[in-house]
Amino acid sequence: MLRQCMEALGIKPDGYYVDCTFGRGGHSAALLARLGPTGRLFAFDRDRDAISSRPDLARDPRVEIQHGRFSAVDSALEERGLAGKVHGILMDLGVSSPQLDNPERGFSFRGNGPLDMRMDQSSGATAAEWLERAPEADIRQCLWDFGEERMARRIAARICATRVAAPLRTTQELAALISTIVRRDHRIDPATRTFQALRIMINDELGELRRALARFLKLLAVGGRIVVLSFHSLEDRIVKRFFRDTAKASADAESGPQFVLVFRKPSGPTDEDIALNPRARSARLRALERTT
Ligand SMILES: C[S@@+](CC[C@H](N)C(=O)[O-])C[C@H]1O[C@@H](n2cnc3c(N)ncnc32)[C@H](O)[C@@H]1O
Repeated sequence: MLRQCMEALGIKPDGYYVDCTFGRGGHSAALLARLGPTGRLFAFDRDRDAISSRPDLARDPRVEIQHGRFSAVDSALEERGLAGKVHGILMDLGVSSPQLDNPERGFSFRGNGPLDMRMDQSSGATAAEWLERAPEADIRQCLWDFGEERMARRIAARICATRVAAPLRTTQELAALISTIVRRDHRIDPATRTFQALRIMINDELGELRRALARFLKLLAVGGRIVVLSFHSLEDRIVKRFFRDTAKASADAESGPQFVLVFRKPSGPTDEDIALNPRARSARLRALERTT
């Protein structure tokens, strides 16, 4: 949904833009192609492999690429004196294809690798470490809240029974355990919901999103936009509520900046987007603009 993201940003050639989720730089490259010589792009990713993946973009004098969480983007830009001066902030949420495709990162039940799942491998507990020591009730809650896994209770119980003899260490050990409990259905692999839930929890994805959105408002210039592309309903719900509540609170206030929704309904993927990337099927694009 690259084209829709660029349109939603309404790019001004001399504006200041932020790509919060650099990944392999696809959106950043498209943004740069629309910026003139005085435009600037600040790109962030919490994954070190991502930020070193595009030396060609890093060499562009208009670009600064940094390792960091998007919930800390506000302080990085405030340090540069950019509060109230940013024309567009883009978030393309979730994991990247290279993260999913590399078995060593532990995100996928398809290959075999260490049960890691950290987007930032320089900090925090891996999924294996968490599953080794988390209380059974916390594992159950995680699978239920972030994966809507109906078998959460049985999976959590089996993980805790298994770890007494030997903790789970690999993606295939976990996938094999789940396959003895969750019946295979023709649409998705039995491990899909558990892996999604663990990934969201290990990376605090929803907490990161909530904190970041709240901190972005003060960065926007008049006419500046926040554009968010999300891939599951938990993320989209947070974005939808935040944008709606922010627009309403500003309309009710007697003074201060005003914010409006750019689209009444979220934009979805085209058939072409889905053909290019089946993950786009559940994509939702929302945008908020500061108008005064
Ligand atoms: C879907 S990919 C982005 C792909 C990118 N738009 C492109 O064109 O290649 C999401 C990226 O966001 C990063 N990410 C996810 N949560 C993050 C966070 N809280 N802070 C910084 N980066 C994050 C991931 O590491 C991943 O590289």
